Amino acid sequence: MAEKTIQIEIKRQSGPEAPSTWEKFEIPWKPGMNVISVMREIAANPVNSNGQETTPIAYDSNCLEEICGSCAMVINGKARMACSALVDKLEQPIRVQPLTKFPVVRDLAVDRSVLFENLKAVKAWVPVDGTYDLGSGPRIFPQQQEAAYPLSNCISCCCCMEVCPQFNDATGFVGAATIAQVKLFNSHPSGKVLKEERLRALAGDGGVQECGFAQNCVQACPKQLPLTEAISDVTRDVTLQVAKDFLRA
Ligand code: SF4
Ligand code: SF4
Ligand code: FES
Repeated sequence: MAEKTIQIEIKRQSGPEAPSTWEKFEIPWKPGMNVISVMREIAANPVNSNGQETTPIAYDSNCLEEICGSCAMVINGKARMACSALVDKLEQPIRVQPLTKFPVVRDLAVDRSVLFENLKAVKAWVPVDGTYDLGSGPRIFPQQQEAAYPLSNCISCCCCMEVCPQFNDATGFVGAATIAQVKLFNSHPSGKVLKEERLRALAGDGGVQECGFAQNCVQACPKQLPLTEAISDVTRDVTLQVAKDFLRA
């Protein structure tokens, strides 16, 4: 009986400015494979389906359990994590390409630093400098912890931005992940010392007003963050902040 194989087509690009091209591979099937393990098989024997020697595929991955957020790519037309994309559940040929809204570094590896710049712009952290000798921080009651926990599950994968119609150069929209982190840190008893600054950062161009509430982000989020609720709550808080600042002026 013929050996069972996996047909996969991968969009390749040797560098940021290089032209892209699709390359096909046929590799032996093994039980329990995901898209990352397919890429590892190719790396072990980099020969394409025409029998030509080629180079291993460049991609990002680390945890292999949908925690690090690094392996986001477009698989069969859907932005998702490659490590949790099981081959047996995918239609073949499996078509894999890099996220389309982020600069390609090489093959499937993209530069997602825009998300980290956005998180810096909204100060998505709890400021602790200089507080080490002030004793323990305020108590966070279990109800508050439970409310905040889902938002803390963000793995910075950028899938929500990839699928968002408003995330583009024209709007400069920060995207759902950044807004969700504003809600998380504004709800933290110590983190909310920066609440007003965070809301002001989302008040202008590229801020919450750009969201069209299409909710593609919610569908794409691999960690099921309550993004609609976060966007709606932060939009309300930004509006109140703008009104307060207007009256203070
Ligand atoms: S609701 Fe729509 S427009 Fe708003 S962040 Fe999500 S995908 Fe983008
Ligand atoms: S909100 Fe969801 S989709 Fe967006 S970066 Fe975080 S985990 Fe990924
Ligand atoms: S390798 Fe970490 S999320 Fe996929």
